[in-house]
Amino acid sequence: MNNKTSIQGSWASRWIFILAATGSAVGLGNIWKFPYITGENGGGAFVLVYLACILLVGIPIMMAEVFIGRRARKNPINALKDVAEESEGSKSWSIIGLMGMLAGVLIFSFYSVVGGWVLHYIKIMLTGEMLGVTSDQAGAAFGGLLEDPSTLLFWHTLFSIMTVAVVAAGVNKGIETVTRVMMPALFVLLLILLGYAMTTGSFGEGWDFMFKVDFSALTWNSALIALGHSFFTLSLGMGTIMAYGSYMTKQASIGKTVLTIGALDTLVALVAGLAIFPIIFANNMDPGAGPGLMFISLPVAFGQMPFGQLFGTLFFVLVGVAAWTSAISLLEPTVAFLVEKFKIKRITASIALGIVVWALGIACLGSFSFLSDVTFFGKNTFDFLDYITANIMLPLGGILISLFAGWVVKDKFAQDELQLSNGMFKLWNLSMKFTAPIAVAIVLYFLINPLS
Ligand code: PHE
Repeated sequence: MNNKTSIQGSWASRWIFILAATGSAVGLGNIWKFPYITGENGGGAFVLVYLACILLVGIPIMMAEVFIGRRARKNPINALKDVAEESEGSKSWSIIGLMGMLAGVLIFSFYSVVGGWVLHYIKIMLTGEMLGVTSDQAGAAFGGLLEDPSTLLFWHTLFSIMTVAVVAAGVNKGIETVTRVMMPALFVLLLILLGYAMTTGSFGEGWDFMFKVDFSALTWNSALIALGHSFFTLSLGMGTIMAYGSYMTKQASIGKTVLTIGALDTLVALVAGLAIFPIIFANNMDPGAGPGLMFISLPVAFGQMPFGQLFGTLFFVLVGVAAWTSAISLLEPTVAFLVEKFKIKRITASIALGIVVWALGIACLGSFSFLSDVTFFGKNTFDFLDYITANIMLPLGGILISLFAGWVVKDKFAQDELQLSNGMFKLWNLSMKFTAPIAVAIVLYFLINPLS
């Protein structure tokens, strides 16, 4: 079963796989969500819980996704089917793949709208429109954008086309090429912004905010948010990593590779925090400003700083690149499935899927204006999709993947792919059978029935 390759292609090397998976993992979750939820949840202690979740739950599940994909070298649905069959398990486990594809499509529809906001911000930072604005003005500018469907439609369409074009070009010519250029660019931009944050005079304050652990600031809810987020940020629970894993070469060690991806994703989130908080503190702004931290507080801060126009623009370019490489990975599992199932060309599959997600995106962007009356359980379409995917579908996918890997797949097949030492394998197996599903089930329960 092991010397096969996927009909979609294979990554040129282990490092390309690491960078492509890191490109998927590092996204709006790291640069937009992580800093603001850290801000809302009091800093240091939250960061510590988040790190523990990545290590104890996220990494083991990512290993499972990679090995399932690599063993079968097919799209997630067929991969799960093949791997189940080999271990004499039920083929129904492939439902996880179906649910994952659906999650990817739904996430894309709001992700692309936020990607569109980011493109718009690159433009207004570049033209200097945000220079010297007050918080009120920045708040009004962001609010105005949300209520302007035609501008949103333009940027959402551009972001969708950029993404579909890469997926259509294929694993090697598309995803791999973008990865080779954009990931190094992303790391360089992040370091430049970190250096800039160090010149603000408030770097120490930012550092303390993130790393000074004060458990009295930690609530149960914050711990749950940390675990939930560790899923979203590592792109787990929906088959993305499984699809990327199916293009991985046999020689590479899954354990080391996954640890590297997890470490890079975490590093980017931490450095993004260290780049953002000093700028916020230097301008006496509130670190707990919530989702508006990036689109309201930061532009105000940049607008008051030396070279703010340049660095503000670079900042949004960084976010745009991160969002783009993640969006690509949201579509890949479904495109791979359509190509393999219906024997259609990749370009046809990509465009067909592109039209569906683009149209769904319109429902999301209208949530703030012409469709604001459409609500599901009291949430507009945008918030509802964010909620059910990140809080329900991904964790559920994660539980099922770990149960499948722990209880259904025979140890000898798992170990054949993972090649861990005996002790490490036992630890991983324990996590799949118990730790990960139980931890995620607890989060799932409390996310649906909030504590306060
Ligand atoms: N990991 C991405 C981020 O942090 C989001 C994502 C989730 C991408 C699931 C692919 C699959 O923004």
